[in-house]
Amino acid sequence: MEVSGKLNEGAASWETVIFLYNSALKEVGTKLEILNDEFCHIHRYNPIEYIKSRIKTPESIVKKLKRNGYESTIDNMVKHVNDIAGIRVVCSFTSDIYRLAEMIGKQNDLTVVSVKDYIKNPKESGYKSYHMLVTVPIFLTDGVVDTRVEIQIRTIAMDFWASLEHKIYYKFEGHAPEYISRDLQECAGIVSKLDAKMLSLNEAILRAREEEETQGSF
Ligand code: GTP
Ligand code: MG
Repeated sequence: MEVSGKLNEGAASWETVIFLYNSALKEVGTKLEILNDEFCHIHRYNPIEYIKSRIKTPESIVKKLKRNGYESTIDNMVKHVNDIAGIRVVCSFTSDIYRLAEMIGKQNDLTVVSVKDYIKNPKESGYKSYHMLVTVPIFLTDGVVDTRVEIQIRTIAMDFWASLEHKIYYKFEGHAPEYISRDLQECAGIVSKLDAKMLSLNEAILRAREEEETQGSF
C-alpha cells in the first residue's frame, strides 16, 4: 500500500488510514453484493447468505503488532497488519465459496495478494474457511491508494463453528482444556459432514427442478 508519503504527514495519519480502510470495505462490500445480485439474476439463486464487515480495533492492532515484534506505528500497522479491514462472507454451500472466490479473482480492479484455503487444508484446531487477501484501489483527490482487505469466505456451518471456537479461545486465553479442544475438533468433523450432505441434497433438488423444467417445456 503506497501510503507512507501520505501517512507521514502528521496528525491526520490515523484518520487517513481508517478512512482508507473504511472506503476499501465499502468498495469490496459493494462488489460482493453486485456479484451476488448478478448471480441471482442469471441463476435465480444467491450464493451469499450474508456479509459482515469490520475494522480492527486499535487495541487489537497494537496487540498484533506487539505479538509479531513490531513497534506500534502507523507505518508498521499498514505494512504488517493485513486484516485491518475484514469482510466475512457467509454462503450456504461449499461450492458457493469456490464459485465466489473465482468471481472475486476475475474482478479486474481487485488484486489478489494471497489465498489461504483452510477448507482443503484445515487448521489444527479444525478451523475451516477460505481466505483471500486483496487490494482495492481507493481514488483520492491527489492519487490512488491500493488498500488491503482480508476476505473470509465460509459456510453457515463453518461460521457457527468458528464463532464458538473464538469465544472458547478467548475464554481460556488460548489454553482450552484438552477435552474441549477435542470436542471442538470432533464438531469440526461434523461440520464437514453436514456441509457435504447439505451440498449433495441441494444438488439433488436442483437436478429434480431441471428435470421438471425440461419435461414442462415439451
Ligand atoms: P492472524 O494473526 O490470526 O490474523 O493469523 P494470520 O495472519 O496467520 O492469518 P490467518 O489467515 O491464519 O487467520 C486470519 C483470521 O482467520 C483470524 O484473524 C481469524 O479471524 C480467522 N482464524 C484463523 N484461524 C482461526 C481459528 O483457529 N479459529 C477461529 N475461530 N478463527 C480463526
Ligand atoms: Mg486476524
